[in-house]
Amino acid sequence: MAKPKFQSPTGMHDILPQNQAYYEKIQNTAKEVVEFYDFGKIDTPVLEDYNLFIRSIGEGTDIVEKEMFTLKTKGKDFLALRPEGTAPIMRSYIENGFVSLPQPVRLWYFGPFFRYEKPQAGRFRQFNQFGIEIIGEDDAIIDAQTILIMYKFLQELGLKDLVVKVNSIGDDKCRPIYRKELLKYLRDKKTSLCADCQKRIKTNPLRVFDCKNEKCGQVLMGAPQSIDYLCEECKKHLKNVLEYLDELKIPYSLESKLVRGLDYYTRTVFEIESTREQDSPIALAGGGRYDNLSKALGGGEISSCGAAAGIERIIAEMKEVKSKLILHSIPDVFFAQIGPLAKKRSLPILEELRNAKIKVGESFGKDGLKAQLGKASRLGVKAVLILGQKEAINEMILIRNMKTSKQVEVKQEDIVIELKKILKEK
Ligand code: HAM
Repeated sequence: MAKPKFQSPTGMHDILPQNQAYYEKIQNTAKEVVEFYDFGKIDTPVLEDYNLFIRSIGEGTDIVEKEMFTLKTKGKDFLALRPEGTAPIMRSYIENGFVSLPQPVRLWYFGPFFRYEKPQAGRFRQFNQFGIEIIGEDDAIIDAQTILIMYKFLQELGLKDLVVKVNSIGDDKCRPIYRKELLKYLRDKKTSLCADCQKRIKTNPLRVFDCKNEKCGQVLMGAPQSIDYLCEECKKHLKNVLEYLDELKIPYSLESKLVRGLDYYTRTVFEIESTREQDSPIALAGGGRYDNLSKALGGGEISSCGAAAGIERIIAEMKEVKSKLILHSIPDVFFAQIGPLAKKRSLPILEELRNAKIKVGESFGKDGLKAQLGKASRLGVKAVLILGQKEAINEMILIRNMKTSKQVEVKQEDIVIELKKILKEK
């Protein structure tokens, strides 16, 4: 087949009708979980000031250096398509004075995000996230609850074999000491690192842990680990988070090299993976604590924690494990019509049935009765309405009870009453 002249942009995809049910199910599941925990929904614009992301995600990160879609408006504003949701939500929290509300403020979101990545399995340039942010609380119970919510959400979608990878990257007090030790180590091994990581030594040394290069991976095996440099408060915080996870019986592993690709994190960072693909596990969700983000964006000292899950990766996993999905609800009745007059009458009759809340299937494009009845039997409806030329003239209609195969002719004005009788039958 010849390549069509126009295709969707690289790494961006249509969500086709056959996949909509996954999005619906995921959004409904997310909604159920967050409503229980009293989150309010928030939608922020897809475009934000470019500098919002520089200040939050940080220079020297892959997202800011390589993955932003940016544009200059006619009014000379420099904007970026949002690559993630935490910074825009913190911007909104500060801008809307949410600090005066009872804290913590719990917000959730669902929508598209954009990263100019090399498209590959599970990595797209436009993807959707479900995210939660709990803003204004520093207790470790919030970190555990964030992990719990994401974990339960994935479980409720039928995903099994999940593991939570947790680490602590310290705070303003202890991270500089760790950074210094890491720098010392990296400088010694500089010549064995890739060009990107050599640059990272100067700009943002912790980001070397995001490098996918195998040689760098080997060098980093012996690198100092953040967990060994935590101050007393950070140690206690991590211990508390892990104790809550034990209490909740959530399986986790401590991952000393997990730093996450965004600079705003402090203390707890985590990712949830499926353990099914042992060789190349892919993160279904990730998050952590971000106690300094508000200040970096011009707000006050506000401790917060949150996480986001990647919808397309979840869908791929749901398909892999054949997770149950309730597809479109099956219609109760099928409407078949033959001839031009019947076709003309069919739209108002369909409207009448819709008003009576009877779900009706039809295939107006297929005029042959055989093709229409074929579709009706594939759908497994309880009754078929048949409107031919003769019935249309006489203002009558045929109703076939699919269970008993009995067919009766009724007045068009009695369709709803007669159908309801059949639909009530067991
Ligand atoms: P993140 O780890 O960058 O965190 O993204 C969260 C999830 O989004 C990932 O675990 C993954 O499932 C999905 N994801 C990320 N990039 C892509 C992509 N290119 N294609 C498909 N899926 C992708 C954040 O975005 C943070 N804002 C999470 C957070 C909220 N931290 C605190 N609060």
